[in-house]
Amino acid sequence: MTKPTKATITFDNDAKPIELPVLSGTLGNDVIDIRTLGKHGVFTYDPGFMSTAACQSSITFIDGEKGQLLYRGYPIEQLAEHCNFLEVSYLLMHGELPNTAQRIEFTKTIVNHTMLHDQLSNIFRGFRRDAHPMAVMIGVVGSLSAFYFDAMDVYNPQHRVISAHRLLAKIPTIAAWSYKYNLGQPFMQPKNSLNYAENFMYMMFAVPCEEYTPNPVLARAFEKILILHADHEQNASTSTVRLVGSSGANPFASVAAGIASLWGPAHGGANEATLKMLEEIGDVSRIGQFIKRAKDKSDSFRLMGFGHRVYRSMDPRAAIMQKTCYEVLNELGLHDDSIFKLAMELEKIALEDEYFVSRKLYPNVDFYSGIVMRAMGIPYSMFTAIFALARTAGWIAQWDEMNADPEHKIGRPRQLYTGEARREFVPIEKRT
Ligand code: ACO
Repeated sequence: MTKPTKATITFDNDAKPIELPVLSGTLGNDVIDIRTLGKHGVFTYDPGFMSTAACQSSITFIDGEKGQLLYRGYPIEQLAEHCNFLEVSYLLMHGELPNTAQRIEFTKTIVNHTMLHDQLSNIFRGFRRDAHPMAVMIGVVGSLSAFYFDAMDVYNPQHRVISAHRLLAKIPTIAAWSYKYNLGQPFMQPKNSLNYAENFMYMMFAVPCEEYTPNPVLARAFEKILILHADHEQNASTSTVRLVGSSGANPFASVAAGIASLWGPAHGGANEATLKMLEEIGDVSRIGQFIKRAKDKSDSFRLMGFGHRVYRSMDPRAAIMQKTCYEVLNELGLHDDSIFKLAMELEKIALEDEYFVSRKLYPNVDFYSGIVMRAMGIPYSMFTAIFALARTAGWIAQWDEMNADPEHKIGRPRQLYTGEARREFVPIEKRT
C-alpha cells in the first residue's frame, strides 16, 4: 500500500474541505502537517500531546509497540553493553559515536569543566539542610546563568557547545553536593582521574578523611543507569526544556525547568515513588490489597513503576535494568533483600493480572533502577536527582537541535476556551 502524501479534513457543514500535507520520517508514524490550519480559522485539540508531534528530531526513536529504543539509530541494548556515558552523550550531541581521538578530546573537555565556581557553594548554603536535592538542583542549575554568562548567546553555535559542556560536566558535582549538603558533610571536589560514573560516586560517598575506591561492578551499573536515562524523545521534561528554550531562554534556565518537570511522580519521580510504595506495601501478603487499590477508579493510587505513555510492551530499558539489578544484588550479597523479593512478587502478580495485561502496563525502567540505587546505598531522595543528571545529556542535545533548526518557533499552544463570554464589569456593591 502506498503511503498517503495528503490528508483532507471535511466538515459536516458547508465549510470547504482543507487539504493538508502528510510528512514521513525515517522511522515511525507519518504525521499530518497542520501548521496551516490556523489560516483557515481551525485549531486542533490535543491535551497531553497524545497525537501531536511538536518538533522534528533526529536524536532518539522509540517504537512503543515493539519495545525499541534507538539513540541516533543505535539500539539502547548495544550502547548500554559497549559504551560509557560520555560516549553516549557525545553521540546524542553530535549524531555519531566518537572515534578514539574524539573520545579522548571530549572526555578531556568535560573533565576540565567539572569544578563549580567557588561562590556557588554559598548558594547551596542558602538552602535548608533538609531541602529535597531536586529543589536544590533546580535552584543551583538555574543560578549557573549568573556565573557562566560569557557563552550564553543561544544563536551562536559555539556558545551553545560551551554551555552544553559546562552543564554535562557540572551536573554530577551539583547533584552530589546537594546530597552532601543534606548530610552535613563537606563538599567533595571532583576527582578527574576517575571516569564520569566513578567520579559521581566518589563525590557522593567519599569523605576527605578516608580513601575511597569505587566498586567497579557498582560503577558500571551506575553508568548503565545513566546511559538508559540519557534521552527519551519528547517526554515531559524534554518538551519543557524545548518550550522554555524556544523563547531564546539560556540553557541553564531551560535545563532548570526540565529538572522541575522531571521531579513529578508521573515522570522522573517514579523511581522514588516506587521504593516508597514497596515500603508501604511492606509484605508479600499485602500485595493483593494494593493491586486492588490500583484498579479502583475511585482511588487515586497507581502502581508506581508500571505503565508508560509510549511503551505498550516491555520497556527495553527495564529489561537491561532488571539484569543489572541481579548483578548488583549478587555483588553485594543482597539477593535475599526483602524489598527486592517483594518487587519481584509484585511484578509477577501484575504481569499475570487481567487489568494490567489488557492495558499493556508493564514494569518500566524506574521499577528496577530504584532497587539498584537503593542497594548501592543511594538514598531515595537522590533517585530523581540522578535521573536529572543522566537526562541532562539528552536535554542539551535536544535544546541544541531546536536552536539549530531554522523552522523552530516560540512554543505557543492554542486553547479551547470554556470560560465566560464577554460580560460587563460589576461594581463591588452590586455583586451578590
Ligand atoms: N497503575 C494502575 N493503573 C494504571 C497505571 C498504573 N501505574 N498506569 C496506567 N493505568 C491505567 C489508567 O488508569 C488507565 O486505565 P483506564 O483505561 O481504565 O482509564 C489506563 O491504564 C491508561 O492509563 P493512562 O493514564 O491513560 O496512561 P498515560 O499514558 O496517560 O500514563 C503514566 C502513563 C503516567 C506513566 C502512567 O502509567 C503512570 O502514572 N504510571 C505510574 C508512574 C510511573 O511509573 N511513571 C514513570 C514513567 S517512566 C519515566 O518517566 C522514565
